[in-house]
Amino acid sequence: MPKEIFLQEGTLITSKTDLKGLIVYANNDFLKYADFSMKEVLNQPHNIVRHSDMPRTVFKFLWDYVKEGKEIFAYVKNRTKNNDYYWVFANVTPSIDTNNNVIGYYSVRRMPNRNAIATIEKLYNDLLKIEQQQGINKGVEALKDFCKSTGKTYNELIFSLQNSK
Ligand SMILES: Cc1cc2nc3c(=O)[nH]c(=O)nc-3n(C[C@H](O)[C@H](O)[C@H](O)COP(=O)(O)O)c2cc1C
Repeated sequence: MPKEIFLQEGTLITSKTDLKGLIVYANNDFLKYADFSMKEVLNQPHNIVRHSDMPRTVFKFLWDYVKEGKEIFAYVKNRTKNNDYYWVFANVTPSIDTNNNVIGYYSVRRMPNRNAIATIEKLYNDLLKIEQQQGINKGVEALKDFCKSTGKTYNELIFSLQNSK
């Protein structure tokens, strides 16, 4: 049975990718939690830690935001090399050169608020079903509707979940 690995308080899991999402840097905590060696992750697509419970909708949001030069926050369930998993509260930002061109991406992952994970697991489960039955565009619509129902933008919603009691 896959087991959950819990991030310790204060942990910062960081990675950098090129424009295609190939990993060009991972810190020690990235390697420790994902249980990979540097050699195994360098130049690999970032989906090396993708968990099958993650809706594609969330990654579509992620890529749409960062390609436009905007940062994004997301709860992500990642898999380890041995098929265990760990939840993170992630912030992904574009790296920009002096001419305002996006030249790569940077991400920092922290310990998630446990109360938020219950809400997110339900939301992701619903999104997965919608994507499977009706396609990714309906998933995107459903996530937008969910945000609207809370009166918040996507990033505001995720941030408020992280700061909720
Ligand atoms: C800087 C950066 C960090 C990312 N971090 C993760 C991550 O921790 N877990 C993950 O599953 N995908 C992450 N992604 C998204 C992956 O590139 C990919 O879109 C996702 O795993 C879904 O895989 P797919 O695009 O092959 O469907 C990250 C992307 C970028 C640019």
